[in-house]
Amino acid sequence: AAEKAPATASGGTRRVLLFPLPFQGHLNPMLQLADVLHARGLRVTVFHAAFNAPDRVAGYHFVPVGAGVPTADLVPTGSNADFAGALLRINERLQGPFEDSLREVLQEEEDHEGARPACLVLDSNLRSMQVVADRLGVPTLVLRTGGAACLVAYMAFPALCDKGLLPPQDHSQLNLPLDDLPPLRLQDMVFSTTTPHETMTTCLERIVESAKCSSGVILNTFNDLEGVELRKIIDGVGVPVYAIGPLYKISSGVKSSLLSSDQTCLDWLDKQEAKSVLFVSFGSLASMDQEELVETAWGLANSRMPFLWVIRPDAVHGSGNVGLPDGFEEETQGTGMVVSWAPQQDVLGHQAIGGFWTHNGWNSTLESICEGVPMICRPHFADQMINARYVEEVWKVGFELEGKLERGNIERGIRKLLCEEGGEMRRRADDLKDKATRCIKKGGSSQTMVDLLVNCIMSLPS
Ligand code: UDX
Repeated sequence: AAEKAPATASGGTRRVLLFPLPFQGHLNPMLQLADVLHARGLRVTVFHAAFNAPDRVAGYHFVPVGAGVPTADLVPTGSNADFAGALLRINERLQGPFEDSLREVLQEEEDHEGARPACLVLDSNLRSMQVVADRLGVPTLVLRTGGAACLVAYMAFPALCDKGLLPPQDHSQLNLPLDDLPPLRLQDMVFSTTTPHETMTTCLERIVESAKCSSGVILNTFNDLEGVELRKIIDGVGVPVYAIGPLYKISSGVKSSLLSSDQTCLDWLDKQEAKSVLFVSFGSLASMDQEELVETAWGLANSRMPFLWVIRPDAVHGSGNVGLPDGFEEETQGTGMVVSWAPQQDVLGHQAIGGFWTHNGWNSTLESICEGVPMICRPHFADQMINARYVEEVWKVGFELEGKLERGNIERGIRKLLCEEGGEMRRRADDLKDKATRCIKKGGSSQTMVDLLVNCIMSLPS
């Protein structure tokens, strides 16, 4: 097993290049991966989009890419965001600038170290950067920041199109169970209703292509959680697959928060009863309209359960938004807290948390599972529907809040989780938490995969 990366001929250790996608849910796992590799003795260079730049980590080299490119249409917004369209534009706009930056970095490395970097690890959504790396002779590894089930679904997408199932022809088809992808239904494969079908097809093809054209695929998941799906990926991509999650646990917990977290909520949680508080957060991109915000507010207030609710500054879309309804603050004084960004992993790990109302971004889903917290699922777009489906049907650690976002519905959902069915779900979540804890220990599946990954990186031709 590789404990520490051996030195290069010039006496230095090998350098690994990384390029995350410039969104919160992608920056964190890539920087955590950087931390894992750095701890094994590899030197680290992080290429990153000039917008949404990550916090700098001491000892790493950071290279901004694409300063000055227009960014207004590169950050998806809305409850049903066109994530795929934004991804294609990011690729198109950053490819040229990345080629220039990569050439420079390769030259510098040769001048100073006499050795080329071992490889580039890139987000699987950055296929255009992989093409550049191929052209310049740099081997690539791909980090999938989503779950294994999601990649399996992306791999199956073209076959569903060939069968005429996608895009769905009419509403009645949406509930159709997909026999090859249980427990998914056709509707879980409609990743956004604002993205044209052709754009979605291209985007997913490129993700799968990036995996197949790499020297290996790294996933932020673990074998005991998604063993079946991981085997399907191994069969499908034809390159080594490394399941090394949960990355936030296997690394030293490095984070790169694009917003500053309100730490006072941890003091507030200290004063609450064990397992009593509902944590409500919809990640870094999803938003709601003003009416949904009002319904959510009254749903929380009427449930009479303690809550910690994250409302980002851009959490409400549409015109004329006015914020929280009159009377809400008075009604929930002492039982509820609203913050604009929370230290989510610490919150989920706090003994006062009894449940998590989430949009089921993969990081949030994984963090909830690894802290043993059951979930109310309200997916918005992209992989979130798949993750929610697995939470409800496979891991059985939560349930989807279906239908219109309406106060009565919300109140019932909260009471179901915290007072009625939550206990069973929490027991199952605790079991998964134990498995997550075991897999990152010496000899555990993820720790073993890190060894194999470091060996793979060190053996790539220089
Ligand atoms: C996006 C997509 O929406 C998601 O579907 C995909 O899987 C990853 O990229 P995002 O919506 O931001 O991610 O959600 P998520 O994957 O859950 O990541 C959010 C991250 O921000 C988590 O690591 C979470 O801990 C952190 N966070 C969130 C905070 O630190 N504080 C908060 O208040 C909210």
